[in-house]
Amino acid sequence: MENKNNYPKILVIHGPNLNMLGKREPEMYGKTTLVKINTDIEAAGKKLGLIVETFQSNHEGVIVEKIQSSVGPCQGLIINPAAYTHTSIAIRDAILLLDIPVIEVHLSNIYKREPFRHKSMIADVATSQISGFGVYGYTMALNALAFMFQQKT
Ligand code: DQA
Repeated sequence: MENKNNYPKILVIHGPNLNMLGKREPEMYGKTTLVKINTDIEAAGKKLGLIVETFQSNHEGVIVEKIQSSVGPCQGLIINPAAYTHTSIAIRDAILLLDIPVIEVHLSNIYKREPFRHKSMIADVATSQISGFGVYGYTMALNALAFMFQQKT
């Protein structure tokens, strides 16, 4: 049996309205449902030797509490804060609690959209941002984290 106790744990957080993926503006966000995205993320993580937990909430405070709960047990955070990207100082402050790599992911290229989406409250407190690659952005983020962990060993 493989010993998975030492595998890095990655928390993936999806913000508001991302539970509606598949139905929500498919021309912008694609046709893939969040259930399928999460299944694919978990499988991609497994291949990279990462344990992935996925989480979605439409509520800012719930997302803040989830980020707080990752302090200690998680070695990496991937977050698509959705609309809270552009407004949430609370999520930004929660991220500042973390001493682990944090990757901000957006399905769409937020810089090609309305001006109010060009500002991210998260970008300058995250390790990096991936924007505009659709669902592949999550796999890119996982690969980046796996690469970072490898560099450390
Ligand atoms: C999004 C971009 C945000 O501006 C928007 O509010 C979302 C999704 C994206 O993944 O492209 O809900 O984060």
